Amino acid sequence: MSRRPIIAGNWKMHNNREESLKLVSGIKDAIQNIDLDALPEVVVAPVFTSLHVVSEKICNCGCAKIKLAAQNCYYEAKGAFTGEVSIDMIKDFDAKYIIIGHSERRQIFGESDEMINKKAIAIIDAGLTPIICCGETLEQRELGVTDSHIASQIVKALDGIKPSDVANVVIAYEPIWAIGTGKTCDSAEANRVIKGIRATLTQIAGKENADKVRILYGGSVKPETIKEQMAQSDIDGALVGGASLKVDSFVEIIKGAI
Ligand code: 13P
Repeated sequence: MSRRPIIAGNWKMHNNREESLKLVSGIKDAIQNIDLDALPEVVVAPVFTSLHVVSEKICNCGCAKIKLAAQNCYYEAKGAFTGEVSIDMIKDFDAKYIIIGHSERRQIFGESDEMINKKAIAIIDAGLTPIICCGETLEQRELGVTDSHIASQIVKALDGIKPSDVANVVIAYEPIWAIGTGKTCDSAEANRVIKGIRATLTQIAGKENADKVRILYGGSVKPETIKEQMAQSDIDGALVGGASLKVDSFVEIIKGAI
């Protein structure tokens, strides 16, 4: 089963409009001579306030090589939800993906599995693709509950979603202890957990659909780690934080996935 790899940059709460434009322009220029077919799917996820400038740079000028993602959304279409942004509002910028369930949203903003499930359903209904994050804390890993915790996060996030729609979601396995710490999860271990995620997906949606799901690894991905990660059987790309904020390191990661 060949799955097109994804290299996605989660810019988190970094970059104003000018900085976002500079970063996306640098990435675009650096990959312009690489054939689209050779590239992984390249995705950037700026803050909401930069979606417009980044969208203009990559969508309006027909750059098919970079896709746009938002870092979050709310599942209601409109209404009295101060501070929230709807999926249609994100779609307005030609975004293709929305990251949901990032551990920072779960831990800092108290997002529940139920909320993440509602977001996943609403994103799919709107014709966009959720990038659903999951991952264990260091404490859960030391207690030996990593696999059951992640299976539970996946089952709850995908509750009520049709098997044929499950095939199109993207999952990101991001061990929380590896995020922003410089401590990358051992590639073979990340692959083992990701195989477990695929086994859970098989139970939910059948093997044919599960085999189509792209499952990314995230957590201190660097230019030096990407080749080994991409060489694993079940790792289909990376969700990159810190190293996606510089043109050089992000482009090296993209090239490492070719
Ligand atoms: P780092 O690459 O900075 O560890 O962040 C990973 C992440 O959280 C991406 O969503």
